[in-house]
Amino acid sequence: MKQVARQARAEERPAGFVPTMGALHEGHLSLVRAALAECRPVIVSIFVNPTQFGPQEDFQKYPRTLEADRKRLEEAGVDYLFAPEIAEMYPQGFRTWVNVEGLSDRLEGRVRPGHFRGVTTVVLKLLSIVQPQKAFFGRKDAQQARLIQQMARDLHLDSEIIVCPIVREPDGLAMSSRNAYLNPDERCAATVLYHALDGARRSMERGERDALRLVAAMREVMRAEPLAQPDYVELVDAETLEPVTRLRGTCLALLAARIGTVRLIDNLLIEERDGTFLATI
Ligand code: PAF
Repeated sequence: MKQVARQARAEERPAGFVPTMGALHEGHLSLVRAALAECRPVIVSIFVNPTQFGPQEDFQKYPRTLEADRKRLEEAGVDYLFAPEIAEMYPQGFRTWVNVEGLSDRLEGRVRPGHFRGVTTVVLKLLSIVQPQKAFFGRKDAQQARLIQQMARDLHLDSEIIVCPIVREPDGLAMSSRNAYLNPDERCAATVLYHALDGARRSMERGERDALRLVAAMREVMRAEPLAQPDYVELVDAETLEPVTRLRGTCLALLAARIGTVRLIDNLLIEERDGTFLATI
């Protein structure tokens, strides 16, 4: 992979990289298409990273569909698939970790201690191997994207971090490899995350600027779904990830909930431009 990466850097067009854990869906393919639109070669990695899963989490049962993924990537026109083994990424004696202080212990990090240490460590390792000019991440994992941008800035990485829109099912559910775990009742209930966020978007469009009222309304929608157990419902500043009381600048409404046994996250991006607010779901 390093040899390919060296050749790629000599090309005229920037090399693009899409890191994934496989079980590819339209969300991943939208990142691949965004990469193909501006980069060549495009490299996709598939690595189910053990260090970002907690001891009680789904590392063992995480869907692994390498052959089907390989085919989809080939059809999409991807140039290289990098699918390393655990022992290559974490050889014996591995000791170095990356931690983005402050941003990594809030929200997802509070519910999943150590998760972001695993994510930022593996992403830095992948970026060091592939050395792309551009790396593409989905906004569905908004906190992850924020941490990776911070890491890239703090560590003077040469890769530009590009965050792409959320891709949704026709009923609004954000695409995720974990949606495959949902049984039919849970699949129906899972749209509650989208409905809570969309309700906030509509209130905001009607002029609501009080973040506490928007959060209360989202909690209410979540509470009405018996299969949903929220982990958090927050409206935060997109840069600091600190809760806000009024909409200002760029904010994120972030939700995480267990639907039955399946943990899902989703978010709404709210941007202030020239005094008006634009919400992107
Ligand atoms: O978002 C993911 O799929 C993973 O967290 C990532 C960025 C590939 C790191 O393992």
